[in-house]
Amino acid sequence: MDFLNDPRFKGIEKFEHKIWLSSPTMHGDEQRWVDEAIQTNWVSTVGANIDAVEKAMAEYIGVKYTVGLSCGTSALHLATKLAGERLYGQAKPNAGTLAGHKVFCSDMTFDASINPVAYEDGEAVFIDTEADTWNMDPVALEKAFEIYPDVKVVVVAHLYGTPGKMEEIKKICDKHGALIIEDAAESLGAKYKLGNEWVETGTLGDYNAISFNGNKIITGSAGGLFLTNSKEDADKVRKWSTQSREAAPWYQHEEIGYNYRMSNIIAGVIRGQIPYLDEHIAQKKAIYERYKAGLADLPVKMNPFDAEKSQPNYWLSCMIIDEDAMAPMVRGEQDYLWKHETGKCSPQEILEAIAAFNAEGRPIWKPMHMQPIYRTSPFITAEGNGRGKSNAYIACSGADVGADIFRRGLCLPSDNKMTAEQQDRVIEIILRCFM
Ligand SMILES: Cc1ncc(COP(=O)(O)O)c(C=O)c1O
Repeated sequence: MDFLNDPRFKGIEKFEHKIWLSSPTMHGDEQRWVDEAIQTNWVSTVGANIDAVEKAMAEYIGVKYTVGLSCGTSALHLATKLAGERLYGQAKPNAGTLAGHKVFCSDMTFDASINPVAYEDGEAVFIDTEADTWNMDPVALEKAFEIYPDVKVVVVAHLYGTPGKMEEIKKICDKHGALIIEDAAESLGAKYKLGNEWVETGTLGDYNAISFNGNKIITGSAGGLFLTNSKEDADKVRKWSTQSREAAPWYQHEEIGYNYRMSNIIAGVIRGQIPYLDEHIAQKKAIYERYKAGLADLPVKMNPFDAEKSQPNYWLSCMIIDEDAMAPMVRGEQDYLWKHETGKCSPQEILEAIAAFNAEGRPIWKPMHMQPIYRTSPFITAEGNGRGKSNAYIACSGADVGADIFRRGLCLPSDNKMTAEQQDRVIEIILRCFM
């Protein structure tokens, strides 16, 4: 469709410069710390910037130890390996620590959250999403323990910076003696009320990870952190991330290692932004609230959170279209079709419309249980087994919350450098989409 010449969008100008979903925000000191690393010749995986990032983030998040790594995925991999080794012992060099074991995993997340389960030869069992925070459903998790009582590891992500129902999830995991791997890659700076105490995401699991990927709330272009209160775990991750060298004068190896350590150059970029984390969160919150007000008259809702128990970092603002305002849309494996109906709309139409005006949105993460690579993995909903639910002879509900949010939801341009005027223009485009 030619959105720019569609009468519905008359008078709206195309953005001269692209409005990004979420792009890096530099403040000046990044250059200083990168230059210092180069001038002092610490162009390596050791140096003052890495030390400073580890220290500042440990203080901000409230953990005893952090280990700077090449990315969030490497932090999650080593977290997963730690859990596997603690439960099932050290694996042979050519085998994963989770071989022969299942792991419960958030379903509606980026695949980096849960791929480490496969790196460690484990089998992911996907747990459906709840509608209140768009995160792992504790009811479905409890069902999963009924079906697979032997499972001892749960990987939980906080979607788009909104904390999940961690109090319930922690209770269930404690009851079943399961370890939690917390993927706080998207939620740096988000807070959760555990009992009567506000804590940061990244402290809620037995093993925790954050990411400084190029589109995160703080970015080094890459980089991630493993977070823990256990010195032993921190030391192990530091060792594994630098090729598992033993304490010998030569290179001596008793276990498999990885080249996962953070670069001191990348750490310089991260170090420059850490003082601005709260400012970024405030900007993202203002964007969320502006969308909420601007879209209030449409049959849509913003991505929800529990205001009593959580303070999101508002990394991405998202919206979901009410069921009765959904225009027809079908998605195949790599393509889609939509049809406009007056007063209604679909995520793909909105994404196409804002893209035509040079703004970037994104579909909601396609749930893992729907991904071709994991299509044969178990999937558990609040009702029990989520696979093979349709029946040619009996009516059945087949509720699948994640698939529904993926179908009706989308991520909106959430860049903290977007001006109020620019955001108003994005809002206007969305309003006209429903005409
Ligand atoms: C939920 C989630 N988990 C893990 C990752 C992986 O982090 P990284 O890209 O730093 O490896 C990301 C982002 O990229 C993410 O959004």
